[in-house]
Amino acid sequence: MLNMVQISVTALLLPLTLASALPKRATVLIPKSVFDSTTSLEQYFTYNYPWGGNTHNGGARMDKEHVAISPPGTLKITAQPVKGQPPATHGGKQIPINYLSGAVGAKQHFNVPKGGGLVFSGSFQATATKGTWPAFWLTAVNGWPPEIDMAEWKGSGKISFNTFNTSSVLSWKDVAYNNPSQFHDITCELRDVNGKDTQVKFWMDGALQATHVGKDYTGKPFYLIINLQMEGSSGKPGPTTNTTYSVKNLEVTTL
Ligand SMILES: *[C@@H]1O[C@H](CO)[C@@H](O)[C@H](O)[C@H]1NC(C)=O
Ligand SMILES: *[C@@H]1O[C@H](CO)[C@@H](O)[C@H](O)[C@H]1NC(C)=O
Repeated sequence: MLNMVQISVTALLLPLTLASALPKRATVLIPKSVFDSTTSLEQYFTYNYPWGGNTHNGGARMDKEHVAISPPGTLKITAQPVKGQPPATHGGKQIPINYLSGAVGAKQHFNVPKGGGLVFSGSFQATATKGTWPAFWLTAVNGWPPEIDMAEWKGSGKISFNTFNTSSVLSWKDVAYNNPSQFHDITCELRDVNGKDTQVKFWMDGALQATHVGKDYTGKPFYLIINLQMEGSSGKPGPTTNTTYSVKNLEVTTL
């Protein structure tokens, strides 16, 4: 009996000792299986913009019907040209709605803790043609900024990476976007610098594209959004046929 007790205590203590000797492991906040099924998508994301509403700063009205898991493992958003939609109102202006499309927002909010960080990654098939404005981005839950455009395509044949300190003070990098019909890997790492500011690094297909610092970003909650806006900053008119935006291997972890 005594021996058995000793063995079980040792068996309990040993893994604990080993675990504390190992470096801290990243916590998975959104797993790579997120787009394996509609059930899994809906476990982590809501449809439309996460602050509520189905229109924003472009010519698309979002709905659930334009968001699909297709094939399993891939989130596919389709922007479909339409007529007769009521306009959107944004910043006191009316914007004509010429498309029905889709947006998903993460149910959880993300923030960079002091001394810590976050990693967002995924593989994206996006258009960079006039009038199409797919994006993968983080924006402030309270007020604005912070905003980090981890990848956005504004219809100019380029991909953009942006970090805003204010609406007029921002770091931005535009890079030529080749082979848009292929999937491209994007990784964005957010890391606390000094308990206040957050360093943001952007990689495309494994190559570092830009390093920015967001002022007072540490500790502030972010929404995560994947959406296919149309027109707006990407120019108009947009395409007269369907446009698709697909994402696979999405993952969010702590550093
Ligand atoms: C934003 O603020 C951070 C922290 O003060 C600074 O390091 C960075 O250079 C600023 N970005 C721009 C574009 O001025
Ligand atoms: C365009 O997209 C809509 C919504 O997904 C779909 O119902 C329609 O069949 C598509 N049209 C074409 C020509 O693929």
